[in-house]
Amino acid sequence: MNDIQLYDKKFEVFIKADELKHIVSSLAKKINESNLENPLFIVVLNGSFLFASDLIKKIEIPNTEISFMKISSYIGVNSSGKLKKIFGIEKDISNRNIFIIEDIVDSGNTIHEVVKILNNKNVKNIKIITLLYKPDAYKKKIKIDYIGKSISNDFVVGYGLDYNDLGRNLSNIYKLKE
Ligand code: IMP
Ligand code: MG
Repeated sequence: MNDIQLYDKKFEVFIKADELKHIVSSLAKKINESNLENPLFIVVLNGSFLFASDLIKKIEIPNTEISFMKISSYIGVNSSGKLKKIFGIEKDISNRNIFIIEDIVDSGNTIHEVVKILNNKNVKNIKIITLLYKPDAYKKKIKIDYIGKSISNDFVVGYGLDYNDLGRNLSNIYKLKE
């Protein structure tokens, strides 16, 4: 019951919308406690859009700003390893306190690339927020500062995450059924 089908694959409920709400609230609480001055939240599109919109509504740090960048690495259910920067941050962000908002950190290739791009812009401070984290897949050294939930190496969809562009609209997160 509650399974869904996207193209050729079946998925089962993994993290319900209620639990996602709790995860987002507790992340927001921790981020608010950091109280970094005039923070700029950078949403890494597409996957993070629902998570980011729920999270940002709960951020109470004064003078909070939001911007977007788009990077893509996944084709199907495997990380392609090749990253495409579709669009980035145009304005001057030197000396700013940055929070990166990611949907999921898998191999870490994407977050590594995003951090590299931002460091070239001479920002003051970078904190990484991710809804989901796959510790067994992570291959990089960069510290992930705020993790919603660590998960096993399963492929997941829903709440912004997609399988070849399907599944982003689902309010639960589902995992691939073997
Ligand atoms: P990484 O570069 O391997 O860390 O992968 C990060 C990006 O790949 C994420 O921002 C997602 O967009 C996508 N991704 C990684 N794992 C999954 C998954 O299980 N489902 C859907 N997308 C994923
Ligand atoms: Mg993403």
